[in-house]
Amino acid sequence: MAVLLILLLELALSNVYYRKMKEEQKSRSDRAQTRVLIIGYGKVGSALAGRLSRLGYKVLTVRRRSEDSRNLVSGVDVIVFSVPDREIQKQFMRLRRYIKPGTVVVHLSGAYGVELFKGAVERGVDTLALHPVKSFFSRPQAKKDLPGGYFALDGTKKGLRFGRRLVAQLKGKAVLVRSEDRPLYHAMCVFGSNFVHPLFYAVEKIGKDIGFAPQRAREIVMPLTVGVLRNIKKQGAVTTLTGPVKRGDWITVKRHLKALRERQPELVILYKQLTRFLERMK
Ligand SMILES: NC(=O)c1ccc[n+]([C@@H]2O[C@H](COP(=O)([O-])OP(=O)(O)OC[C@H]3O[C@@H](n4cnc5c(N)ncnc54)[C@H](OP(=O)(O)O)[C@@H]3O)[C@@H](O)[C@H]2O)c1
Repeated sequence: MAVLLILLLELALSNVYYRKMKEEQKSRSDRAQTRVLIIGYGKVGSALAGRLSRLGYKVLTVRRRSEDSRNLVSGVDVIVFSVPDREIQKQFMRLRRYIKPGTVVVHLSGAYGVELFKGAVERGVDTLALHPVKSFFSRPQAKKDLPGGYFALDGTKKGLRFGRRLVAQLKGKAVLVRSEDRPLYHAMCVFGSNFVHPLFYAVEKIGKDIGFAPQRAREIVMPLTVGVLRNIKKQGAVTTLTGPVKRGDWITVKRHLKALRERQPELVILYKQLTRFLERMK
């Protein structure tokens, strides 16, 4: 009896394995037939090109502004505009009449939706806005960090289907952010990322003033920051607030301001604005 059970179990497992292998083979062969043109070979464009090639897509790239992409766009299934936000619509409009119906046009901006692809849907062209919720400051770092995490999507039915599949292949999680919400959504991302930089600029600058090299100042403060982020992640920004403003220790705040005025006047305005905001948050 036990032997029979083991045999049945093995059979079931090998069936599952066989089905999975078949699915993977099919999806690999679908990818091999999907031609993707990436326009712009900066941080995100180069990282995406590398990942897509590894996944088995047929990838073409336009690496220089001077390269003419007009003859390429009509022969591909997907076109990714990985250029600065201000260039996306310009580049799309320049190429629009060469793009064949059924193509999916993609951009990677968080602040814009698919409205940048003006007239695409009317021409039978599908659209996708696919924003990796990540910060990429160099090509090697983008190459490493592109997979995983969240991707904010909007687009046509076919565009979204392609986007969801791609995000899964990049081991990420897809979240729908409608085009009309994207400016505000992107402002949210800026609060959680870009606005951290002035704070650490201040840490490094004050650190230097009291004799710590920038790396040392970051090392000393970082565990404090990581702890705060952990608290915020678990219980939110308001509940977990600590420090002199929360305690109402205004004499301490005054001491900070006096020291900053004397030795780091550039940082006074930032300190004052943030303190005012903390007061409202309490
Ligand atoms: N970096 C991030 O953290 C991040 C995160 C999420 C989403 N995104 C989005 O990803 C997109 C690309 O950003 P990125 O950070 O990769 O920018 P990037 O590193 O500055 O790369 C942009 C690339 O586009 C090229 N380019 C500019 N105008 C062009 C044109 N007319 N034709 C062809 N190529 C042109 C640039 O060439 P040159 O080198 O000659 O200027 C550069 O290679 C943007 O929409 C951005 O919002 C970025």
